Amino acid sequence: MEDRLDDNKEIIEQILSIKEALGEKLIILTHHYQRKEIIDIGDYRGDSFGLSRKAAADKAARFIIFCGVHFMAESAEILSQPHQTVQIPAVEAGCWMADMADRNTVEKAWEELTSITGEESVIPIVYMNSDAALKAFCGGHGGTVCTSSNAEAAFRWGFSQREKIFFFPDQHLGRNTGNQMGFPPDKIIVWNPSEPLGGNTPESIKKAKIILWDGYCLVHTRFGEEHIMKVRKKFPEAKIVVHPECTEEVVALADACGSTSFIVKYVENAPSGSTIIVGTEINLVNRMALENPEKDILELHYSLCPNMFRINLKNLLRAMEHIGETNVVTIPDGIKRNARKALDRMLALPGSDQN
Ligand code: 13P
Ligand code: SF4
Repeated sequence: MEDRLDDNKEIIEQILSIKEALGEKLIILTHHYQRKEIIDIGDYRGDSFGLSRKAAADKAARFIIFCGVHFMAESAEILSQPHQTVQIPAVEAGCWMADMADRNTVEKAWEELTSITGEESVIPIVYMNSDAALKAFCGGHGGTVCTSSNAEAAFRWGFSQREKIFFFPDQHLGRNTGNQMGFPPDKIIVWNPSEPLGGNTPESIKKAKIILWDGYCLVHTRFGEEHIMKVRKKFPEAKIVVHPECTEEVVALADACGSTSFIVKYVENAPSGSTIIVGTEINLVNRMALENPEKDILELHYSLCPNMFRINLKNLLRAMEHIGETNVVTIPDGIKRNARKALDRMLALPGSDQN
C-alpha cells in the first residue's frame, strides 16, 4: 500500500510537470466515472454532454486528452478543431452498451422497419453511447444524438420532425424518456435485431411511437427493485437518485433520476445532514461521499464500470509523454462529416446551453 502511494505520488508529479510545461496547449477532460486521482488532475469534469460541449467550445488547446470511454473521445474528436488532436489514455476503454449496436445491424433493422412505416415517418436518434458510424447513420438520415441529460429535448425535437422515433442502443433511457413524456406502454416497442421485424408484428410497429433497440448497460441494470426496498427500509428518511440507464421499475421507485451531472448537482443541493442513496457507477458515488462530508452519500448497490476504470495514472502519463502521438483518436472523413451533423443538431437542442 505504502509503495503504491509512493508510486502514485511520483507519477502525479511527472504528470503535473508535463502539464505545467504544456500550459494552455493541453486540456484534460474527465468523465464523472473516472478514478478520483484522474479527476483531480483534469481541467474539466462532466457528463457526456458537458464534455462534448467543452470539446466543441475549446479552440485554444492543441492537445485534448480524454479520460473516459472510447465513444466519448470519438465525439470529442468529431467536434474538435482541425488543429487539435484527441488522445485517449487507454484505447481499449470501450462500452458494453455501445457494442450492442453496429452499423450493419442497425441498417438492416432500419430497412425492415421503414418497409412497414415508410422512411418519411421515422427519425433515428442515437444515444451518445455508440460508435461514430451510428452517429453518421443518424446524421445522414436527418436524425440526432442525445445523452442522458437531453434525451427528452431530443425526443421532442424528433417528434417535431416525424411521427415515430427509432432509438438505439439503450432501451432503458429510451423507455424512461417515453414514460416521462407520458406515452402509454403499447406505444413503446422493443426491437430485437435477431428476430424478424425485431420480434414485432406489422400492426404493433404501425401503432408504436417509440421503437427501442434492445441494448442496455450492465453497470446500471445491476440495480434492482430489491436494492431500493432494502435501503428504503434501512434509511426511511433518505432520498434515492438514479441514472436513467436503470430499468423503469428502479426509476419508478427512486425519488429522482438524471444524468451524472444531474446526480452531482442533486447531491450538492441536498441539505446538510441528509442521506442520499445513489444508483450509479461506484467511483462517482465514492467521490461524492468524499466531497460532501456533511452528508451521508451511500451506494444503492456496488457497481463498477471496468471500461471507465481502464484509464489510470500510468496510461495518462504515457499519453502525456507522447503528446499528440499515442492513442490518437481518428475517424474517417466520410463518417466524421455525417456524425458531426448529428452532433451539431444535438448541441442546438433547446436547453443545451443550460446543462
Ligand atoms: P452521462 O451522460 O450521464 O455522463 O452518462 C454516461 C454513461 O456512460 C452512463 O453510463
Ligand atoms: Fe458504457 Fe455502462 Fe460503462 Fe456507461 S457505465 S460507459 S453505459 S458500460
